[in-house]
Amino acid sequence: MKKIVGILLVLAFVASFAGCAKTAATPYVGCTIYKFDDTFMSLVRQEIQKDATDKIKLSVQDSQNSQPTQNDQVDTFLTQGVTALALNLVDPSAVSVVIQKAKAKNIPVVLFNREPDPTDMAAWNEVYYVGAKAQQSGTYQGEMMAAYWKAHPAMDLNHDGVLDYVMLMGDPSNTDAKYRTQYSIEALTAAGIKSKVLAQDTAMWDRVTAQSKMAAFIAANPGKIEAVFANNDDMALGAIEALKAAGLDKNGKIIPVVGVDATPPGLDAMKQGTLIGTVLNDATRQGDATYDLAFALGTGAATISTTVGPLCDQDGTVDAANGRYVWVPYVKVTPDNYQQYVAKP
Ligand code: GAL
Repeated sequence: MKKIVGILLVLAFVASFAGCAKTAATPYVGCTIYKFDDTFMSLVRQEIQKDATDKIKLSVQDSQNSQPTQNDQVDTFLTQGVTALALNLVDPSAVSVVIQKAKAKNIPVVLFNREPDPTDMAAWNEVYYVGAKAQQSGTYQGEMMAAYWKAHPAMDLNHDGVLDYVMLMGDPSNTDAKYRTQYSIEALTAAGIKSKVLAQDTAMWDRVTAQSKMAAFIAANPGKIEAVFANNDDMALGAIEALKAAGLDKNGKIIPVVGVDATPPGLDAMKQGTLIGTVLNDATRQGDATYDLAFALGTGAATISTTVGPLCDQDGTVDAANGRYVWVPYVKVTPDNYQQYVAKP
């Protein structure tokens, strides 16, 4: 009898630990960033690291723009016993593999910045997403360019009433790149402006690549480019360098360029007047929401919430019970309000 009681006690002890598997005293969050060498993602990463207190173990890895590297990092995290994953995917189409790995070990996942396909999100109810609605950023870019065109008739270099532009895209497999490209031009049309694309190419979010692509655009379209749309500030800054090198931005005359992110160098270009508009991609609040979710999920909290905003459905409807998206709004940044986004020393 004593032996049976003993066995039962041991079983109860083991079971109590098994039951506690999700309520980790110190959560361990494994985080990957698609590549550290990306201006905007560095800001998000710094915010996540700033939020991490001694109540959490956080490991942040650089996936070096390689999905196989990121898959290995996820495997290592799972072997090490993380209690939640926070992943900025390299390739959003690889998400189902990563979700299956995590699901097999019952480890919740927070995806951020690179929006996965809704069918992948539907694969498991322990997968969350933090990001911003890319359509909105494109619309804001188009609206700012439309306002500039209407206020500066001299921008129409060949006086044909058509806005002739070039487009520098981010990674074309990325939702942000796709929608910013599409919605910026749709906003021009909605403002009653006819436009024509002279050249469009990807510069993969990168400043140096954008500078050389822009130099090629200028060489192929001498005197014709009236506006530049860049899917992010880094590429806008590369374009501005190329415009300066070609002598097209000088003596207060500029070819207008719009970007997205409102990074510190982007805001500096707003101050110089070379960038006519950008869109705040709120790295602070995206980092905070990612951290809040990863912390709550990693501790096995009964209620999952964030300090940033409510849980929503993919379409933005607030859904506190079943929503698994946190949407951080974009903000239009113009010469009138840019100063409020410049970090105070
Ligand atoms: C975008 C951002 C880009 C780049 C990209 C990476 O939201 O505007 O600058 O960081 O994410 O996926």
